[in-house]
Amino acid sequence: MKKTLFVCNFLILSLAIEAAELVGTGKNGMVVTADSLATAVGVEILKKGGNAVDAAIAVNFAMAVTYPEAGNIGGGGFMAIRFDDATETLDYREKAPMKATRDMYLDSDGFVDKRKSRYGILAAGVPGAVAGNYAAWEKYGTLKWNELIQPAIDFAKFGFTMDGHFAAILNGYQKLFEMDIMALSAFQPLDSVWRAGNVLVQPELAWTLEKIAENGRDGFYEGEVAKRIVRDSERLDGLFSLEDFSRYEAIWRKPISVTYENWQIYSMPPPSSGGICVIQLLNFAQLFPLEKWGFQSANHVHFTVESQRRVFADRSQHLGDSDFWNVPVSSLVNESYAKQLKQQFKYVATPSSEVLPNSMESLSDESEETTHFSIMDKWGNAVSNTTTINGWFGCGVVVADCGFFLNNEMDDFSAKPGVPNQFGLIGAEANAIEPEKRMLSSMSPTIATNGTETLVIGSPGGSTIITTVFQVLQNYIGFGMSLEEAVQSPRFHSQWLPDRIDIEEGFPKEIQWELQLRGHSLNSRKLGQANCIVLKADGTMIGIADRRRGGGFAKGF
Ligand code: DON
Repeated sequence: MKKTLFVCNFLILSLAIEAAELVGTGKNGMVVTADSLATAVGVEILKKGGNAVDAAIAVNFAMAVTYPEAGNIGGGGFMAIRFDDATETLDYREKAPMKATRDMYLDSDGFVDKRKSRYGILAAGVPGAVAGNYAAWEKYGTLKWNELIQPAIDFAKFGFTMDGHFAAILNGYQKLFEMDIMALSAFQPLDSVWRAGNVLVQPELAWTLEKIAENGRDGFYEGEVAKRIVRDSERLDGLFSLEDFSRYEAIWRKPISVTYENWQIYSMPPPSSGGICVIQLLNFAQLFPLEKWGFQSANHVHFTVESQRRVFADRSQHLGDSDFWNVPVSSLVNESYAKQLKQQFKYVATPSSEVLPNSMESLSDESEETTHFSIMDKWGNAVSNTTTINGWFGCGVVVADCGFFLNNEMDDFSAKPGVPNQFGLIGAEANAIEPEKRMLSSMSPTIATNGTETLVIGSPGGSTIITTVFQVLQNYIGFGMSLEEAVQSPRFHSQWLPDRIDIEEGFPKEIQWELQLRGHSLNSRKLGQANCIVLKADGTMIGIADRRRGGGFAKGF
């Protein structure tokens, strides 16, 4: 997405940021995001002496203004942080309101009312974004909190000039905005349609951001902003209470970790399924002679798809918020489990109807829209951050007098066992709705290191996040590609159900035929937007912005 700044106290940018910038190099810092203004903000913070976490916070808030289709303060996400050679993760996922009930999306005949779980206030979880950024700042921040929010305030107050891509997105979503008078008044074009060159000013959002800048976490979860959200929720027959907000906490969690070809991989634990699933796929990958078979050979794709079929089947049964459900993490990520399942694989496709989630009893017991950015500072500290309001513009509700969209993350719960959500994902008891539970996610911010190089990886894309992150890791580490090739090569995705392989344009035709002969059905699709960084042994950082979705912005210095 390409945008230009109109007026801003913080930065005076050239009005000529025209094209995506897919490759950046530098030794002092690197920022890779989906938005040109956000990348510029991140670089500016690093240049001022801020660290990767400072820059990540400023980028997150800037994107809440300049990329409102996914950037947010009304949603949530996950951050993987590598600081002084230790990696941890921060969970700022939304949670179900205290008044939420297990069957809240079922109609009187017991069918899931998909409109209810996707549109309008009932689709929204309690947002975690402000608490998450504040927790990250309390632990690692070095610049002043309000200094990190100021660029976002300036963008909201003085406006920025939109490019054609963003104008088209706003035009495309007018029907959604029409469902909510506040969304319509915030994003209705002055003329009949939005055009490149129009300036978007968001004064209500600027007010909200000022409250957050003044009062930190409490600026959102206590006081006037929380009151306005709850007032709106009451107006729209929603479930939010002030207590939902005062009780919200971001949670530091130990990453899921595995060794893959001499690399240590760190990824997001539950309530994300991402880390577990990515690591399961890496475990499978190590059981096949993929290098011998070659990248995008029929065997490479076929056996990866057979692995994905099992991994997503298990996801449907066993994964949910581990604070509410006993997720068998170590059984699932154990290499011996992959070895056991591999015995079922044949050279032809196993119909997904014949693949059931494993009972786990045989194993040891144990206690379109999202955005991803990667940042690294001159000390080698890194942030991998994926954040979302789920669907583009979330549930379509803008909080009155606050100017931001609420998420529709409640659709990531399993509203009814076996009924797919908007990403076609199926769930069961583990991911059933409960008050204050976090809905299962696929977001997989990941950091990997082999001692001399460090990789920072992640992607948006619902269920395809998992397979995108896995493939970038496999391409770079397993197939030995450059990071650019690893990110830009055509990808494929499968997820057990629906029983098909999604493939991107550019996938060799003869391989497609062979896969069909082996019993796979194919579907064409674009997959993810992986914005990644690698720190090379000589201290050079290479940032790669994904070419997909209009291309991102990688900038190093
Ligand atoms: O948390 C999840 O898995 C989803 N809510 C993410 C949604 C998403 O990536 C949409 N983006 N393209």
